[in-house]
Amino acid sequence: MGRVIAVANQKGGVGKTTTAINLASSFAAAEVNTLLVDCDPQSNASSGLGLVKDPERISTYHLLMGAASAEEALKTTVLKQLWIIPAHKNLIGANIELVDGERREFRLKDALAPIRDRYQFVVLDCPPALDLLTLNALVAADAVLIPMQAEYFALEGISELLDTVERIRASFNPDLAIEGVVLTMFDDRTNLAQQVTAELKRYFGDKLCATTIPRNIRLAEAPSHGKAALSYDIKSRGAESYMNLAKEIIGHQLSVKEMAAAAAARSSQRTVAVNEPVASAPTVVSEATSATIDQPPSEEPSQAPTAEIRAEDPVQASSTEAPVDEIRVKQPADALVEARVEEIQSEQPAEEAGPAPVEEIRSEEGAGDPPAEMDKSA
Ligand SMILES: Nc1ncnc2c1ncn2[C@@H]1O[C@H](COP(=O)(O)OP(=O)(O)OP(=O)(O)O)[C@@H](O)[C@H]1O
Ligand SMILES: [Mg+2]
Repeated sequence: MGRVIAVANQKGGVGKTTTAINLASSFAAAEVNTLLVDCDPQSNASSGLGLVKDPERISTYHLLMGAASAEEALKTTVLKQLWIIPAHKNLIGANIELVDGERREFRLKDALAPIRDRYQFVVLDCPPALDLLTLNALVAADAVLIPMQAEYFALEGISELLDTVERIRASFNPDLAIEGVVLTMFDDRTNLAQQVTAELKRYFGDKLCATTIPRNIRLAEAPSHGKAALSYDIKSRGAESYMNLAKEIIGHQLSVKEMAAAAAARSSQRTVAVNEPVASAPTVVSEATSATIDQPPSEEPSQAPTAEIRAEDPVQASSTEAPVDEIRVKQPADALVEARVEEIQSEQPAEEAGPAPVEEIRSEEGAGDPPAEMDKSA
């Protein structure tokens, strides 16, 4: 099942749309099928990927109102493995029209359900508000990615977003995770940026993405050409930084798989443990066994503390190590992205930053199959 990532921050102008467009494009450049869903009435993600305004176009509005299916709303883009469901300014009306609607918080999730398996990533670009549109995105999402600027008051307003995430977990979407916090328009030469980063690191820990997005003119110019930065100028720092962010997030995905593999490994151990007689074990071991789902197959009393540690933090279990290495060997995310980027770079003449790379990427069509039953008409 693909991962649905909502790019959200109720603060305006922090780089949500720039992140949504360029992250989705970088996933697609890494040859994973990706869908970008524009959930913002401003429709900047749609125009930023070159879709002209068209009042007749089926959009996220129709999905939320139950007037069209996601299949009908899909549009192709210049990148072979990137699709988009565009927005329209009438989407603002959905906030009001859905006030008494049935399952109003689940409209987007329900609409995307029939197609989400076709994509490894679905990226949702949210509006700058904690309204019903953002709520729908957070209910549909597996995780939220929060773009932030490294400003003095950076943490102000974030608590409101994190409270919203908590409330959504408590009511509509218990599994909603924080994918990460990514610093945008970042200038690491200033002391302020470094101080704010240190504070954010203390606050968010490893949820603060290692990749930062620099302030880069190419990122600001690209949407006016209807292109992601990697189609506009693949050698720019902006394009490069979003490709790094994509790598980092693909890496998180592998971590999820690692945990799943570890859980599978532990459950096979459990089968062994069930077959082992535990009656002779000392009381403390028996308690640990019944209190956890994670009993290692051992008759030695000295194993009991290990069982308890594992129960508290399954990620640290030593049984994860073998599957992790295996998966890393099988799926080197960095190599996957880098290979593709090198390919695109070698296709792109160094002096050109115009349409040529896009044409060339397009001309590769046919090299891979589109997802099943995909409407390729733009
Ligand atoms: N890293 C960057 N370097 C330079 N300019 C950037 C960068 N990121 C975003 N911008 C510019 O900053 C402005 C705001 O960015 P963007 O539209 O992505 O923010 P947003 O959070 O989606 O805004 P809104 O809240 O209105 O939806 C845009 O003009 C964009 O081109
Ligand atoms: Mg935006």
